[in-house]
Amino acid sequence: MKEKREIYRFLHVTPRRIFEQLDQFVVGQKHAKEVLAIAAYNHLKRIEYLKFGGDVSIRKSNILMIGPSGSGKTYLARTLARILDVPFAYNDATAFTEAGYYGEDVEVAIGRLLYATNQNVSSAENGIVFIDEIDKIARRTGGARTGAGSRDIGGEGVQQALLKILEGEKIFVPLNVTAHWNKYDYVEIDISNVLFICAGSFSDLKDSAEGQSIGFFNDGTGNGREVSTEDLCKYGFLPELLGRLPVHVELEALSASDLVTILTEPREAMIPEYQRLCALDQIQLEFTPEALFEIANAALRQKLGARALRAILEKVLHPILFVAPERAGERITIGPEEVRAAVSV
Ligand SMILES: Nc1ncnc2c1ncn2[C@@H]1O[C@H](COP(=O)(O)OP(=O)(O)O)[C@@H](O)[C@H]1O
Ligand SMILES: [Mg+2]
Repeated sequence: MKEKREIYRFLHVTPRRIFEQLDQFVVGQKHAKEVLAIAAYNHLKRIEYLKFGGDVSIRKSNILMIGPSGSGKTYLARTLARILDVPFAYNDATAFTEAGYYGEDVEVAIGRLLYATNQNVSSAENGIVFIDEIDKIARRTGGARTGAGSRDIGGEGVQQALLKILEGEKIFVPLNVTAHWNKYDYVEIDISNVLFICAGSFSDLKDSAEGQSIGFFNDGTGNGREVSTEDLCKYGFLPELLGRLPVHVELEALSASDLVTILTEPREAMIPEYQRLCALDQIQLEFTPEALFEIANAALRQKLGARALRAILEKVLHPILFVAPERAGERITIGPEEVRAAVSV
């Protein structure tokens, strides 16, 4: 009886609740947030099931995220880790090399997780490992994709190495990834409950039959279709690797109005943050709606999605932040002209 209750300890967490929490931070991407919430929930259920003697008949829900730059891939994954209250380790796939070559072995990803928990092994064992730029380790066909030579130490070799950790169990990882690789103390860690999220923009993913860009959302036209496992194989991924990333999450390019919302509404929105900063100097900072759209459009022109917003805002506010203490007591309104002046230089 007790066991049954324990197994369902996570019932207070539901996909809908995870979604609602993600929703407080991440704008748009409704479908992606739902898929992620389901995957996270299933992951928690699986862990509980195994803890109480279940067999491994429930597979891990490792995730592959596909979406343009600055659409929120990393932010979604980080926010998920925060909501689930588990450690998070960010990795760049392009830094990995096949074992024996100069560069990072994939085990370093787990080392980072351990580092994020201050070497707390049991906490790390439930963490999330994020691997960015996964599209850059597609197999190179004759060096065509990257223009590099035919030796593929960063492509297929890394995919092979990743296979081992995506559904691995116990591995030895360096206790301190900040020290040099050769001088490590190692610790054994069970990674069977570590959730892996791989992400990439796959910006040159083409429909092999029609030569058109695919991705339901990737091109922003809405004419694409969902990316299939077959597309990803053709792109240069090992079928075995794709098999270990069963959950696919596609993100849309953010629109100008999404970007305006990102500036003003979510939990960590930037405009309220700068307003608080200015309020500390007794300045009441306001933006007109046209100014916000001007900022959003400037970000779209840079093709960096939401990633461009902070730098643009810093530029726009530069003249004010410089003299803020001298203008205490004032109310300052930013209009579209101020934005245009700042982004045109
Ligand atoms: N959909 C979104 N909702 C809210 N903020 C976002 C969103 N997408 C991006 N951001 C903001 O932009 C920053 C960069 O986004 P990021 O997640 O790194 O993009 P990606 O990984 O897709 O290239 C985030 O840290 C966050 O502040
Ligand atoms: Mg990213």
